[in-house]
Amino acid sequence: MKLCVALDLPSAKENLALAKSLKDYDVWMKVGFRSYIRDGKAFIEALKTINPDFKIFLDLKLYDIPNTMADAAEEVTKLGVDMFNIHASAGSVAMKTVMQRLNSYEKRPLVLAVTALTSFDEANFKEVYEKGIDEKAEQFAIMSYENGLDGVVCSAHESKAIKNATSNDFLTLSPGIRPFGEDAGDQQRVATLELANTERVDFPVVGRPIYKDKNPQEKVEEILKVISTF
Ligand code: C5P
Repeated sequence: MKLCVALDLPSAKENLALAKSLKDYDVWMKVGFRSYIRDGKAFIEALKTINPDFKIFLDLKLYDIPNTMADAAEEVTKLGVDMFNIHASAGSVAMKTVMQRLNSYEKRPLVLAVTALTSFDEANFKEVYEKGIDEKAEQFAIMSYENGLDGVVCSAHESKAIKNATSNDFLTLSPGIRPFGEDAGDQQRVATLELANTERVDFPVVGRPIYKDKNPQEKVEEILKVISTF
């Protein structure tokens, strides 16, 4: 299990300060929509300057026509990040096109598909996808697996079922992790680290419980200590 820290602070300066305080830990850095739109490629480069070995997950959740997604995926690859994601609902042609394009690169990032956003509750999810979260997330995961993706973004509650329906090596990354039961905020399907482990989550994503803590570095240490016991 690898901890993925969401760099969701309001400025590049604050995010880089957080990254700097975590430079000696074995953690992944998640760069999201907000910071990438605001700070762009320079932010990725600044992270690598802090620690060239930082693993970077670019969480842009691409969703467009297949050719545009594959073009964007190539640009993401050129940024030198280690993982990025697309929306599974973009469909199997989009998945195939993206993977075919990236497979020509000697070194490509891991590609994950978003199944159901963890902020969805059952009723709001059904309104869009006309099926329950569990059923649809598993269906999206199988589709992603069959089209050559490396894994999916799903809530911790769906991780084990998804691995059972695909492969144990098929990666699961789960946001909405409240390591020790902290405040859920707008997340609907949260899970503790303990549950994430039972559910065989590969990458627990933690944002607010770390960056809103009075001592983020200490919090990361506590999380890593628990992870090391799994
Ligand atoms: O603060 P919190 O721990 O809830 O942060 C979760 C992070 O994971 C945020 O950056 C959010 O955008 C992201 N995310 C999510 N649900 C998804 C995919 C990504 O919450 N399905």
